Amino acid sequence: MASVTYKNQPAINKTKGNVPLAGNSHVYTVSKKLWHDNIEDVLQGLFIGTTLHVCCGKSQLGDVRLDHDPDNHPDIICDASNMKAIVEDNQFDTVLCDPPYNGKFQWNHDLLSELPRVASQRIIFQHWFILRIIGLIKAQEKFQLIDVLVWQPKTYFGRVNVISVFDRIIDVD
Ligand SMILES: C[S@@+](CC[C@H](N)C(=O)[O-])C[C@H]1O[C@@H](n2cnc3c(N)ncnc32)[C@H](O)[C@@H]1O
Repeated sequence: MASVTYKNQPAINKTKGNVPLAGNSHVYTVSKKLWHDNIEDVLQGLFIGTTLHVCCGKSQLGDVRLDHDPDNHPDIICDASNMKAIVEDNQFDTVLCDPPYNGKFQWNHDLLSELPRVASQRIIFQHWFILRIIGLIKAQEKFQLIDVLVWQPKTYFGRVNVISVFDRIIDVD
């Protein structure tokens, strides 16, 4: 009998804990805030200026919260992989993002192109990997990794969560 549950992450619960990297048929949603208060305190301390929180879930961090699930009551409801109709280039100083980890590769690629488009100074990105560079399109290779924070959730087999902090590369010409 299964004794491990992901009841606050229903899509993962439905797949019995499997999270295929290629994506799955269950749309990822959250039924409660996943970050503990001490993690949010650390994240808040990293913010510079105005902050957009992409894929915010039930977390209240950020001046403007964006998610595609209306149940999270975000300020903006849209797909994070294409925010062009709603969020302008460089509109926010800081962009925080903790995306679903089961996105298809194209979705991840599109998301990782959108974050550097809308951030003017800093990107804070949580996943289970460390990105070498953010902005996979050459013209967007403008953010460099400046810090990496790692934390372990309280769940028994919880994956390590990696928070990567990127700052805009300042042109010195
Ligand atoms: C990992 S959760 C964020 C959890 C949050 N950091 C917390 O600690 O509670 C990812 C969020 O992405 C949202 N999401 C899923 N697909 C999305 C999409 N295509 N566009 C925007 N948000 C999406 C889900 O609704 C969920 O709230």
